[in-house]
Amino acid sequence: MQAPLFLSEHAVATENFCKQYIGTKQTHIPKRLYDAMLYSLLAGGKRVRPALVLACYQACGGEDLEAALPAAASIECMHTYSLIHDDLPCMDDDDLRRGKPTCHKQFDEETAVLAADALQALSFEMLADLNADADTRITLVKDMALASGCQGMVGGQMMDIEAENQAIADVLQVERIHLHKTGELLRWSCEAGARLADADETQFQACSRFGKAVGLLFQIADDILDTTASSEMLGKSAGKDEAQNKATYVSVLGVTKARELADEMCEIALDACGSLQGTAGKQLKDLAVYILKRGQ
Ligand code: IPE
Ligand code: IPE
Ligand code: MG
Ligand code: MG
Ligand code: MG
Repeated sequence: MQAPLFLSEHAVATENFCKQYIGTKQTHIPKRLYDAMLYSLLAGGKRVRPALVLACYQACGGEDLEAALPAAASIECMHTYSLIHDDLPCMDDDDLRRGKPTCHKQFDEETAVLAADALQALSFEMLADLNADADTRITLVKDMALASGCQGMVGGQMMDIEAENQAIADVLQVERIHLHKTGELLRWSCEAGARLADADETQFQACSRFGKAVGLLFQIADDILDTTASSEMLGKSAGKDEAQNKATYVSVLGVTKARELADEMCEIALDACGSLQGTAGKQLKDLAVYILKRGQ
């Protein structure tokens, strides 16, 4: 499935912002740390989360894309930190990420842990630096803390680790893991775009519901691809979930039912963003369908 064109346009804008923002700090950062941070951040991810920020911003009437770029960059830094930690030997123990050796393989474990820590802090710094009123910035920082921390992504990663090798009770447990470890950062992306555009309540709720559905859809597709795609296609090791006895939609439902559920989640996402008009509203729909089709 071909990625929509705007995805790469938003990716380039986000990457340029990151390079420029971190570049101005270069002389204050130990070289090895700086190199590891940029290595992982600029290794070439799909940049789905920044695209969600920017598309939701525009779908809620935001016109100055530059003003929303720090939020797009912020979520990509947070996401990249989560990937570096996810790949560590004590976590999923992966050698390949974004088509390249993982951070701890390219550098070493100590550097990888620290580069990820630094990216997490940088993510908050970018939000604090946003050209928005203080209330909006504080809300975005607080929401990011909730989405990324013990009640969000980190909590979900804990549930993911604990569920390894355990008999899984039901699909609700997998849903809970996925909504936390992946869903919350995607929902944050959509809500942040809406907040920066000063969305009204209806628009905000549309973005929020869209983000939640797309978050779950994204991880269902990731679970399916882990079993159906090659490492070359994914740029990361395929077949890891089964090897590590992970609790996934595929392990609980099988591929066929997981695909049906992905279809349902995509419908919910499309329904949620149905009220958002214009080119950016269409972009959100295209993104949801792109995420769905990747997993088919
Ligand atoms: C991978 O995320 C980790 C999950 C939450 C499934 P992505 O599939 O967005 O990874 P990149 O950013 O494109 O490398
Ligand atoms: C990771 O989920 C979610 C994160 C918080 C990084 P996975 O472990 O399934 O992600 P991949 O498949 O390694 O990218
Ligand atoms: Mg994992
Ligand atoms: Mg992993
Ligand atoms: Mg996975």
